[in-house]
Amino acid sequence: MRQPLSSPTRSHEPATLILGDKSYLLPVIEGSEGERAIDISKLRDQTGHITLDQGYGNTGSCESAITFIDGEKGILRYRGIPIEQFAHGATFIEVALLLILGHLPTDAEYDAFSKDLTRFAYLDEGMKHQFEGFPRTAPPMAILSAMINSMSCFHPELYELEDEAQFLIAAARLISKVRSIAAYAYRHSRGVPYIYPDPKLRYVPNFLHMMFSQPYDQYVCSDLINRAMNLILILHADHEQNCSTSTVRMVGSSGANLFASCAAGVCALWGPLHGGANVEVLEMLDKIHQGNMTPEEYVKLAKDKDSKVRLMGFGHRVYKSFDPRAQILQKVAEELVPQLCGSDPLLEIARRLEDIARSDPYFIDRNLYPNVDFYSGIILRAIGIPVNMFTVMFSIGRLPGWIAQWWEQNHTPGTRIARPRQVYVGNRQKDYLPKDQRG
Ligand code: ACO
Repeated sequence: MRQPLSSPTRSHEPATLILGDKSYLLPVIEGSEGERAIDISKLRDQTGHITLDQGYGNTGSCESAITFIDGEKGILRYRGIPIEQFAHGATFIEVALLLILGHLPTDAEYDAFSKDLTRFAYLDEGMKHQFEGFPRTAPPMAILSAMINSMSCFHPELYELEDEAQFLIAAARLISKVRSIAAYAYRHSRGVPYIYPDPKLRYVPNFLHMMFSQPYDQYVCSDLINRAMNLILILHADHEQNCSTSTVRMVGSSGANLFASCAAGVCALWGPLHGGANVEVLEMLDKIHQGNMTPEEYVKLAKDKDSKVRLMGFGHRVYKSFDPRAQILQKVAEELVPQLCGSDPLLEIARRLEDIARSDPYFIDRNLYPNVDFYSGIILRAIGIPVNMFTVMFSIGRLPGWIAQWWEQNHTPGTRIARPRQVYVGNRQKDYLPKDQRG
């Protein structure tokens, strides 16, 4: 069912490493899109040296057949399909299955998975009671991570996913329930009654129903919002070895179950330099709008290293010409926002910030462009998603990628527990002193 990893080709020319008077040949491998990597897996055994690469900017942690990015050319493909091709009517569930199965789903595969999503949307009543223990002010990302982890308690039969059928059930449970958990977290924060999933509704309308319906008033999801939300989730669905996905793989490499590994992914995504940036973008735009600062003043501050301020939603570790997701989302924002809210001053500020930054040598020289978070928050806000739920929306979108990467890792021959080394720079050996002898 799933595509096997095609083994990388060994390049004819190994790399030569010269250390002192010795030289070592290191194999060079080549991926299917021609990118090359020096295989250093035997480096320490052969030379006694390790490599040092803070932030892993030059380190390939795995071989993967799921997502391809060429940051210089602004290319992003899921299982070979360019991201732009999903912008015209693909559904999030179709793309989730593409990532997980390795191919676009047949009608039968899609229908079977959709049925499972409907069947699994309900939370165990015991799980529902857990929400009561969280303070109303609890960050939804903390609740999301805790509740995904607690799914391990309710489905221990899914700890060991021996075969693909079981894996697909675990994937459907996670992808379905994450919506219910997210919506319940929101409703708990508002102190309003939980709304059960409606089996008649598709993935996105069902989520928005659980978020916004009232017992006396059913939320109706328009076609425009359905399309925009599907697209946002699709654009977030995978992004190869980013911080949260690497976390999922790191945790999964110890043998931890799928739920525990994805819960860890949520925590990694929460940070403001990763998924949390979509919240920071909105706060930045709002601050400018409230008149505390002009866009020009903000950009000036973001260039000042002493200020510790960054232009949020700008820059990316991998993209060095443009982020294709940001380009798509900008168009969606321009189409959707006027239809839903008329004019939005925050969209105008975002446009202005982009104009200023993109003609400023500081940003040009450092290849800093809008990333996926720059426009996603404006769209989510227009749909009515509260700002503190933005990163939760990112998590819902990223879940299929985490699931696919976790499974791929567990089925790649030679996978070992992830365990980086370090260069120790602390004290040399010294003696313990009893309390009365310390200065
Ligand atoms: N505003 C101002 N300066 C920036 C910004 C920014 N948004 N991003 C990078 N820079 C500057 C850095 O100060 C640094 O300058 P220097 O060379 O003079 O020291 C240079 O550009 C390189 O930046 P790094 O932090 O080394 O780049 P890195 O690849 O480690 O970080 C990151 C990438 C975290 C995305 C960074 O660009 C950033 O903080 N952006 C803002 C936060 C953000 O939008 N995060 C979302 C990323 S997308 C995602 O995770 C979904």
